Amino acid sequence: MLRYLNGGESHGKGLIAVLEGIPSGLPLTAADINRDLSRRQKGYGRGGRMRIEQDHVEFWSGIRKGMTLGTPITLHVANRDWENWKDIMAPEPGPPVTEKVVTCPRPGHADLVGAIKYNHRDIRNVLEKASARETAIRVAIGGVAKRLLAEFGIQVYSFTVEIGGVKASLKGLTTEQAFQQAEESEVRCPEADGSARMVERIREAKHKGDTLGGVFEVIVMNPPLGLGSYAQWDRRLTGRLAMALMSIQAMKGVEVGMGFESARKFGSEVHDEIFYERSTGFIRGTNNAGGLEGGITNGQPIVLRTAMKPIATLYSPKKSVDIQTKEPVEATIERSDICTVPAAGVVGEAVVAYEMAAALVEKFGGDTLDEMRRNYDSYQAYVKQF
Ligand SMILES: Cc1cc2nc3c(=O)[nH]c(=O)nc-3n(C[C@H](O)[C@H](O)[C@H](O)COP(=O)(O)O)c2cc1C
Repeated sequence: MLRYLNGGESHGKGLIAVLEGIPSGLPLTAADINRDLSRRQKGYGRGGRMRIEQDHVEFWSGIRKGMTLGTPITLHVANRDWENWKDIMAPEPGPPVTEKVVTCPRPGHADLVGAIKYNHRDIRNVLEKASARETAIRVAIGGVAKRLLAEFGIQVYSFTVEIGGVKASLKGLTTEQAFQQAEESEVRCPEADGSARMVERIREAKHKGDTLGGVFEVIVMNPPLGLGSYAQWDRRLTGRLAMALMSIQAMKGVEVGMGFESARKFGSEVHDEIFYERSTGFIRGTNNAGGLEGGITNGQPIVLRTAMKPIATLYSPKKSVDIQTKEPVEATIERSDICTVPAAGVVGEAVVAYEMAAALVEKFGGDTLDEMRRNYDSYQAYVKQF
């Protein structure tokens, strides 16, 4: 079983996670993870914080000489801003904090509900953990998961398909091409014209003191048939993947395969017909199901699209109420981004990679990578002759 917990305040000392269940013998280096940490920080539309934080992972346990030990892997990502915050955020008891106190909740954030729920009079106690800074450690966890998936030829890709109503055309591109082209784009959009229009839209939003959301797609290539299960509701991989994506800050919807469009069509236009060829076994002509049937992977690529709402912190702030005085105010401005859909795609890859790795460990799990590979190979041989 794969599991992890994370902790860390946005302006605290750093972010930390303990990941358990990765088999021994997996080659793993910080570089595998730092690449994705850096990808998460890029993208047109980011604010000042990205220039302060240059994220790097440090392994505190579970790895020796570039190889996993089969013991819990502790990952740490330092907050470079800590020096400027260490008095305000000090864990030691002391006089009440008077600096950087937040009493005006921002609409669209956890600020008000979090303050009431946990009885905090300084909203900083809420926003420090609710903030999407937390996604850095999730990307680090995803990096470990990707490394395991790669041993089984499974790749996880993402790209931006829509920002502020501007849609990209992906026609004629393979997933790998779309991904490669997206990596060259400052909004992670595979199409040059779409990229330029998205940048323009973000520029427009910035000019107005406004923000934007959008849609990103995550695709898992080469998943084996049979991950997840219909046997129990919480083992359905469709639900687990949707939960993972919806757990990212600011996500408002997930589509699988043809998604919402399938609700507007006849069944005959939706379901992927089954064919058989001696050389390849069972095959499909289409992939409207997005690689999942009955909560189980069917061997086709997994296709997931996620909708992100516009960033909630506006430079022309919305109306709010001070929680101390109960007077109307304008919401507080924490340093903020205009649009983070490009970064959210990288986070999407990470959370999907984690769920895929968890499902892989459940099905083929072993204490060592070799044992897992043996289980995987014999299962694949069985599927081939079915
Ligand atoms: C990568 C990423 C970066 C984000 N950056 C910001 C930001 O700079 N400012 C902001 O107000 N919200 C940002 N958000 C969104 C908020 O964290 C989120 O809307 C807020 O915590 C409330 O959670 P909810 O939208 O899920 O209800 C970001 C989200 C992601 C995924």
